Amino acid sequence: MSLEDQVVSSFAKAGDPRFREVATSLVRHLHAFLADVRPTEGEWAAAIDFLTRTGHTCDDKRQEFILLSDVLGASMAVIDLNHPTGGEATESTVLGPFFVEGAPEFALGEDISGGAPGTPCYLHGTVRSTRGEPLPGAVLEVWQSDEDGRYDVQYADLDQPRGRGRLRADEAGGYAFWTVHPEAYPIPDDGPVGELLDAAGRGPMRPAHVHFMVSAPGHRTLVTHVFTRDSAHLDDDAVFGVKQSLVIDFDRHGPGPAPDGRRLGIPFHTAEFDIVLATVRAAE
Ligand code: BEZ
Ligand code: FE
Repeated sequence: MSLEDQVVSSFAKAGDPRFREVATSLVRHLHAFLADVRPTEGEWAAAIDFLTRTGHTCDDKRQEFILLSDVLGASMAVIDLNHPTGGEATESTVLGPFFVEGAPEFALGEDISGGAPGTPCYLHGTVRSTRGEPLPGAVLEVWQSDEDGRYDVQYADLDQPRGRGRLRADEAGGYAFWTVHPEAYPIPDDGPVGELLDAAGRGPMRPAHVHFMVSAPGHRTLVTHVFTRDSAHLDDDAVFGVKQSLVIDFDRHGPGPAPDGRRLGIPFHTAEFDIVLATVRAAE
């Protein structure tokens, strides 16, 4: 029996059939990879050292393995397997490392920026089901970078949430909030994942976006972003997270009246993003 077959059969008595299936496939693909690449012992040791350092870079604030999964396109592949595109529902994309549980609650129309630097931006839309029905009370978690491309959690001296909040859609499924216009930013690239990007001649940048996590009873929770159409890096997102349906116009206005009746003395942006949630399937 070949070495590969011996390893596969060592899993044959595993009690959990899904574990057996996954382990078998992993061993088959790993051995095919080794036969293809024929690593030297030094290369194999370097690979193990890379994974070891990736683990050592993780702590309760930083998850380098998720970042590795992101830059290898694995995170998006898992999302696409579990949230097939082409339906009526809004498309999903990566969660990323900057979501924080327990963000402050805001009433509709309030400003979630918390004083983050940036041009004011009014974001609004409706949350509906795939049948077109409004979803009153849908919960929207939103979070984003400021004009310097940084999230609140990346400022060592900031102990207040900034540019993140939790809102509830109104009776017609509508939502609206003020924030600042997001900007493109680099993913954390001072660890092993940054070395990998460097070795590949790849950049660390993500296009400007606002994150949404939207939930409503009886519907699948949606994790997504909206991207600004005029952003750099829409074509070379470091984590392959861009979907064309999520790229929208953020219109720029001179000083004057805003859609909510306020008058702004400085330029501002407005953007409309309607959200459609899929229904939970019987097996979920
Ligand atoms: C983000 O969009 O916040 C993000 C996603 C993946 C990796 C790093 C950051
Ligand atoms: Fe982000």
